[in-house]
Parts: sequence; C-alpha cells; structure tokens
Amino acid sequence: MILKKILFSVISLLMVTLLYQCKHDPDLDIYNGQDPNNPTTSDACDPDSVYFQNYVLPLLVSNCSTSGCHDKESAEDGVILVDYASVMGTGEIKTGNPGDSELYEKIMENDPEERMPPPPNNSLTADQRNMIKKWIEQGAKNNSCDSGCDTLNVTFSTSVWPTLSTNCVGCHSGAEPSGNITITDYNSVVALANNGSLLSVIKHEGNYSPMPKNGQKLSDCKVAEIKIWIEDGTPNN
Ligand code: HEC
Repeated sequence: MILKKILFSVISLLMVTLLYQCKHDPDLDIYNGQDPNNPTTSDACDPDSVYFQNYVLPLLVSNCSTSGCHDKESAEDGVILVDYASVMGTGEIKTGNPGDSELYEKIMENDPEERMPPPPNNSLTADQRNMIKKWIEQGAKNNSCDSGCDTLNVTFSTSVWPTLSTNCVGCHSGAEPSGNITITDYNSVVALANNGSLLSVIKHEGNYSPMPKNGQKLSDCKVAEIKIWIEDGTPNN
C-alpha cells in the first residue's frame, strides 16, 4: 500500500514536471536561452562578431518597423521587429541556420513582390544582409558591446555615416522617404545638419520629432560624435 502511494507520488511529480517543461520550453527555444530583456554586454567590440543591440536591432527598426509594417501597432503578418523578444518571437529565426530562417530568406528574395523591405523601399545592402546572416550563424544572441568613444578622430565616413546608415537610412530613403526627409548621402546629411534638425532630433530636444523613431535613443557617444562633426564644419572626410 505504502509502496503504491510512493509510486503514485513519484509519477504525479514527474507528470507535473513534464507539463511544466512543455509549457516553458518553447520560450527558452525562442529566446535561445537568452534573457530577452537583458543583453549580454562585452566591454569591447570584437570586430568579428555581430552584436544584436548595436547593429541588428537598429537596422531592423529603421528598415522594417515603420508605421504600417512591423511596428507594434501594425504587426503585418504577425511580425513585429522592435526588440529581441519580438524579433525572436515572430521572425522565425533558426539559430545558427540563416538559410532556414524566415527573416533572412525575406531580405534575400530577388522577387520584389516577396522581398522585404518591399518597394518603394530599397532592399538591404549586401553588407547589411551579410551582417544579419553572420549574427544568426553566431547564435542569434541578445548581445551588445561597448565600442568606446573616440571623440578625437571624428570623420564623416568612419563616425557619422555608419551611425546614420544603420539607424536612419531605412526610413529616410527610397521613393517615399519618411517625413519627406532623405538621408542617403553626404549632401543630404549636411542639409539637415545646417538647418539644425539633425542634432535636435538625435538629442531629443527642441520642437522636432525624436529620432530614430520607434528605436532606442543613440548613445551619448554617437550623439557627441555627430555634434563634433557639425562643429568642425561638416567636413566630407
Ligand atoms: C522607423 C522609421 C524612422 C527612423 C528609424 C528614423 N526616422 Fe526620422 N522620421 C520618421 C518619420 C515618420 C518622420 C516624420 C515625423 C514623424 O512622424 O515623427 C521623421 C522625421 C525626421 C526628421 C524631421 C523632423 C521634424 O520634426 O521635422 C528628421 C531630421 C529625421 N527624421 C532624422 C532622422 C535621423 C537622423 C534618424 C536616425 C538617427 C531617423 N530620422 C530615424 C521616421 C524615421
């Protein structure tokens, strides 16, 4: 009798444990064992690694989470691309396997009817596609790194443009740029620098809309770099 009772308890415990795991495993799978709310942060950026918070997320926000597409409100096709949880939860990413990941397949499509982002938006550049591929291959982690802040060697090509091309160009390019503002090359950036809007939108100051829209405010360092470049007289260097 006692043996039966013990056996019954053990079996019930096993079943509860199994049920609990079934209920919770999918989350772990989706998040790939990562904490969606707390990225793993490295002190220095390894040039061979692609970081979600520094690169992949701002790129997805500026190219995909536009209004009417994959922001929280629109959620086209149920896909939302605004943070790690939503990217992993709806982007059908197979860790380590870009070829099997819906998000990567979509950005690689040649057919404009199928491609993301769709016309009139530009497709991602070869470089940007490769970076997303690499991030998935490297485990699609929720990671970030501290690139340090070099305010002594600020140039347009190494400091300003990399920031804007990742964080802003997606929305502000193509046949119908957001807010009718284009950010596509040196001249278009100089125009915004000269009319004062560039610094105001990234500092979230003044009467302009805060940018990047739907995204994280740029780090103090990135804002400082752009400010220095403007104070230097917006050189094309
Ligand atoms: C997700 C899309 C999106 C991203 C990313 C984005 N913008 Fe915008 N931007 C908009 C929209 C839409 C407007 C029109 C105003 C509004 O709706 O807030 C706009 C307006 C602006 C304006 C005009 C502001 C005004 O109030 O007149 C500037 C300048 C600007 N953006 C610069 C930037 C810069 C610089 C970045 C990157 C740091 C950036 N944007 C990133 C969508 C975006």
